[in-house]
Amino acid sequence: MRFDVITLFPEQFRILSGEGVVARALGSGIAELHLWNPRDFALGAHRRVDDRPYGGGPGMVMLFEPLAAAIAAARAASPGAQVAYLSPQGRTLDQQAMIDFASAPGWILLAGRYEGIDERLLASCIDQEWSIGDYVLSGGELPAMVVMDAVIRLLPGALGHERSACEDSHMNGLLDCPHFSRPEQIDGLRVPEVLLSGDHGAIARWRRQQALGRTWLRRPDLLAKMTLDNDEQQLLQDFIQARQAAALDSGEIEP
Ligand SMILES: C[S@@+](CC[C@H](N)C(=O)[O-])C[C@H]1O[C@@H](n2cnc3c(N)ncnc32)[C@H](O)[C@@H]1O
Repeated sequence: MRFDVITLFPEQFRILSGEGVVARALGSGIAELHLWNPRDFALGAHRRVDDRPYGGGPGMVMLFEPLAAAIAAARAASPGAQVAYLSPQGRTLDQQAMIDFASAPGWILLAGRYEGIDERLLASCIDQEWSIGDYVLSGGELPAMVVMDAVIRLLPGALGHERSACEDSHMNGLLDCPHFSRPEQIDGLRVPEVLLSGDHGAIARWRRQQALGRTWLRRPDLLAKMTLDNDEQQLLQDFIQARQAAALDSGEIEP
């Protein structure tokens, strides 16, 4: 997958080629990153990319023309790519959006700065507007990297173990199950016996039950959107009963 990022601070993206899943995907050609600096498309001796807002007020606005020219160049280099502006006013990204991103041929990500971009760009050059959450950052570079990381790990071959992405939180509507590694015991806390049993069927059921139970505990809003089959309903019921029994035993709740 090809990513083209339009940014005034291309050097910030160096971090992506350092180490980890994204760096490996970029190194092996699973993903490509091309950076475009609007300053290279700015006219005049000063190569201005921002100016004061009409009507007055604080801050600067990113100018239409250098951004439109940078987007046009990126579109020409990546035919079929969609242009997404990262913005706190966009639709909030979630895992489904990342899955949809991963099925496109390429993305041109526009990272804003200052007060944001000239509003007319939204009408003429931008296909989609996406937010990484209801808070405001100083620039769109980190949001663009968030999108790239979340999308790249979904691309075939990007993760060492293909199944690990499928079982991640939010991939199938649930949170992931808990994970344990060596040693078997730490400060009296033991790894659940079933994980040491070697019984792969029992382990898979336990993990499914834990994912259901954990989602019930932490994100009932996600569970409410799902339709559980009879087996899953039973697994969840057993999880809830086991928790209630444990809380009674420990005196956490009154009989
Ligand atoms: C300081 S912000 C501009 C905020 C803008 N004045 C507003 O209130 O909507 C500068 C840039 O950071 C990026 N940005 C900030 N918060 C973001 C968020 N939650 N999601 C995606 N991008 C964000 C956008 O690209 C934005 O143009």
